[in-house]
Amino acid sequence: MSAMRRGEGFADLHQHVLWGVDDGPQSAEEMRALLERDAAEGIGLVAATAHAYPRTQPFDLALYRERLAEANEYCRARGLPLAVVAGCEIHDAERVPDLLAAGKLPALGDSRCALIEFREDASLDEVGATAGRLYTAGFVPVVAHAERIRCLARRPERAIEAREEYGVILQVNCDTVLAPRGFFERRFVARMLRAEAVDLIATDAHGASRRPPRMREAMAAVRQRCGEDYARRLEERAWRLLGLAERGGMESE
Ligand SMILES: [Fe+2]
Repeated sequence: MSAMRRGEGFADLHQHVLWGVDDGPQSAEEMRALLERDAAEGIGLVAATAHAYPRTQPFDLALYRERLAEANEYCRARGLPLAVVAGCEIHDAERVPDLLAAGKLPALGDSRCALIEFREDASLDEVGATAGRLYTAGFVPVVAHAERIRCLARRPERAIEAREEYGVILQVNCDTVLAPRGFFERRFVARMLRAEAVDLIATDAHGASRRPPRMREAMAAVRQRCGEDYARRLEERAWRLLGLAERGGMESE
């Protein structure tokens, strides 16, 4: 159990905010600029989802934790109403559940949700198998930018079924809501939003100027297209996934 309480604003569960750990900010200054931008964007919590590639390279947890502390220290010193919690965007691999269970890769915040990046040409069977392995190990799979996975993006109806069948949480990027790249992304996002089958909208931001966090704009677009009710539920869902419920108490998903 965490002592943390639900903050104000948006919870962004996919962002490359820490410096020098992946292709996000490359310096402390760049990280600080992104944190400032996050706060200005109305984001109250960021999961610092650094890329992890379990097949090819070990995740440097010590460096990660150092940078996470540095980010929070900066927010405190500046008085930014922003908390940065652990997480990573884990490239799909057989050993992921073991690494999560051993604490060698961080899940999202203090939750049992893990953000998984699938190959763009991953099959539905692969997505299902990975989801099954994660559930067996006690974790809940969150599919990072689901719109990039062709087997989902090209067949939204199948994506909706897969979401139910495999119990996956589908995350879509703010940039895709605002400016889908091509026919399939556009149709996928439109149909998934209409079916209320998008579970999370997150920025996947990499910097204050390069791939910046466009949370406010994206949520305004969702509000306009799908109504206040679904937009609010989407915002709430991100906090709830971390066990942070509406009135500041703890609640499990
Ligand atoms: Fe990402």
